[in-house]
Amino acid sequence: MGLLEKHGIIERNATLLLVGSLLVVSIGGIVEIAPLFYLESTIEKVEGMRPYTPLELAGRDIYIREGCYLCHSQMIRPFRDEVERFGHYSLAAESMYDHPFQWGSKRTGPDLARVGDRYSSKWHVQHLVDPRSVVPESVMPTYAFMKNTVLEYSLTSNNLISGALKANAMVGVPYNQDMIDNATADLLAQANPDLDSSGLESRYNNVRIEDYDGNPDMVTEMDALVAYLQMLGTLVDFSTYEPEANYR
Ligand code: HEC
Repeated sequence: MGLLEKHGIIERNATLLLVGSLLVVSIGGIVEIAPLFYLESTIEKVEGMRPYTPLELAGRDIYIREGCYLCHSQMIRPFRDEVERFGHYSLAAESMYDHPFQWGSKRTGPDLARVGDRYSSKWHVQHLVDPRSVVPESVMPTYAFMKNTVLEYSLTSNNLISGALKANAMVGVPYNQDMIDNATADLLAQANPDLDSSGLESRYNNVRIEDYDGNPDMVTEMDALVAYLQMLGTLVDFSTYEPEANYR
C-alpha cells in the first residue's frame, strides 16, 4: 500500500481524522508554548526605562480618559517608512510599565510613541488648545478646557496620586514605598521649577521639570498631559542602544 493510499484511510474515517488532527495540533502547541514557561521574561531589558513620574502618570490617565488612543497609536513598527517618519521602532521594554498599553490600532493622527522632545511644550499647549491654529488642515478636537482645569491629583488634601502609584505597583510596576509616600510632592515639583526637585530627581532618572502650561498658579490637566507627551519615547538612548546578540 502506497503512502497516499494509507492517508486515504484517515481521510475516509472522520473519527480517526479528528484524533489525528488533535494529536498533531497538541504537539505543535506544546513545542511553541512549553519553552515560554522556562523563560523568566520575554521582554529584553533595556537601559533607561523607569516607571512614569506621578505627573506623567496623571497625564497618561487623561490621555486614556479623552480617548486619544482612538486616533493615535503608540507603536512604531519595524518598517522602513515608519522608522524614517517616527524614529527607532518601538521596543517591548518601552511599554512594559503601561497598564493598559497604548499601542492602538488606528492612526487618524500620527504615531506618538516618540513625540517627546519633538516640539516645545508651548507648541503642545497651543496645539491642544486649538489644533487648527498650528496645523490648519487638522481634524483633531480642541482640548482648551484642560488649561483651566485643576489636576485633581495635585490637590494635596487627598492621596489620589499615591493611590494611583500603589495600584500600578500591584500589577508589577516597580514603584517603591518612597515613591508612593512622596507622590504628591513629586507631582508638584515636576510642574514647578521653583520648588525643590532633588527628591523627585533622586527617585526618577531623566525627568523633565517645567511649568508646562505656563501658568504657575495651579497644576492643570494640561500640565500633566504635556508632561506625559514630552517624555514619550525619550527614556532609551538610541545613540548607545545595542540589541541583545540573539535578537539581532
Ligand atoms: C479625531 C482624531 C483625534 C483625536 C481624538 C486626537 N487627535 Fe491628536 N491628532 C490628530 C490628527 C489628525 C493630527 C495631525 C494634525 C495635527 O497635528 O493636528 C494629530 C496630531 C497630534 C499631535 C502632533 C503629533 C506630531 O507628531 O506632529 C499630538 C501631540 C497629538 N495629536 C496629541 C493628541 C492628544 C494628547 C489627544 C487626546 C487629548 C489627541 N491628540 C486626540 C487626530 C486626533
